[in-house]
Amino acid sequence: MADNKKETVKETVETTGHQWDDDEGYPLKEYNNPLPRWWLYTFYATIVWSVIYWILYPAWPLVNDYTRGVLGWSQYSQLEEELAEAREMQKVWDDKLATLSLEQISNDNTLLQYAISGGKAVFGDNCAPCHGSGGVGSHAKGFPALVDDDWLFGGTLADIEESVQNGRTGTMPAHEEKYDGALNAQQVDVLTDYVLSLSGLGHDAQKAVAGKELFEGEAACVVCHGDSGKGSLKDVAFGDPIDRSVGAPDLTDAIWLYGGDRTTIRTSIAKGRTGKMPAWGEGFSGFGRKLDPLSIKEVTLYVHSLGGGR
Ligand code: HEC
Ligand code: HEC
Repeated sequence: MADNKKETVKETVETTGHQWDDDEGYPLKEYNNPLPRWWLYTFYATIVWSVIYWILYPAWPLVNDYTRGVLGWSQYSQLEEELAEAREMQKVWDDKLATLSLEQISNDNTLLQYAISGGKAVFGDNCAPCHGSGGVGSHAKGFPALVDDDWLFGGTLADIEESVQNGRTGTMPAHEEKYDGALNAQQVDVLTDYVLSLSGLGHDAQKAVAGKELFEGEAACVVCHGDSGKGSLKDVAFGDPIDRSVGAPDLTDAIWLYGGDRTTIRTSIAKGRTGKMPAWGEGFSGFGRKLDPLSIKEVTLYVHSLGGGR
């Protein structure tokens, strides 16, 4: 019974006519099983579809070119159209920003948000390497964080714009004899103790008293840092308004440009420091990519918005 069934199956199967005989003489035949109909029709349909597609759309690579298809469609043309639309809208806003002052823009919340989002992108591309992403500051010393309310050169819109447009150089002169300064090592030591005392860090009280005398007297640190050490910017008690463009940092807070430990402070005083913020405005050469006036406006508003804007 089982054998019979095998025979009938054999009879109904088509073969391709190929036949191999192995060593023992058993024939090995190649069957020709027809494909299921649904599969075949789907297969034909895909062929028809591909031909239609070749005709309508870009399909075949050619030497240095490709078949473009009768519809003339391309991803680029679609993108171009979308971009052109977006640019048109953007231009309306950009024109507004270009004509208004920084103050006017910051009084119009919708415009301000638009400018800030543009400024954020400008910042990420140009400023983040030195100031940290989002302006939080860098691991490297000497690059100020821009998110706090501690400004070297001022945090008003005008001050920030000036910093970006023209760049800034903060020069802390060398003070120790070893580095062509006028003070001996001992004097630098007591000044270090006084600076430590200004922000409540561990110091020798007696030396700090001597340091204070030097700070306000012979060493003339007050000229730049103000008589309270709060920096030229914040020292209104000093009488005539001091030029804030020197960018002397507040020595009484916990924020340090170079570091608030004894060794680093001593080095700052002894050897001096020179921090350089590149100029980004048109007309400046040297380090820094140039930014167009609109980008400078946007990045100024962005930095001002970071939380420390005065
Ligand atoms: C090559 C590094 C570098 C790049 C890039 C850079 N800055 Fe600066 N920036 C500095 C340094 C260093 C200072 C501090 C200068 C000093 O110590 O006197 C500074 C200072 C500033 C200040 C003044 C801060 C204060 O406390 O008054 C602002 C504002 C500022 N940068 C914004 C920007 C913006 C916006 C960009 C991008 C367009 C930018 N910076 C790109 C290095 C850089
Ligand atoms: C000509 C102006 C000037 C004088 C005078 C001056 N400083 Fe400075 N000082 C600066 C500036 C500007 C900076 C910031 C340097 C920079 O931006 O790189 C600075 C930085 C410092 C720092 C580093 C602060 C930090 O945040 O890391 C210390 C400490 C310091 N000064 C102490 C003194 C002492 C003490 C004296 C007196 C012996 C003195 N300075 C005299 C302008 C001055």
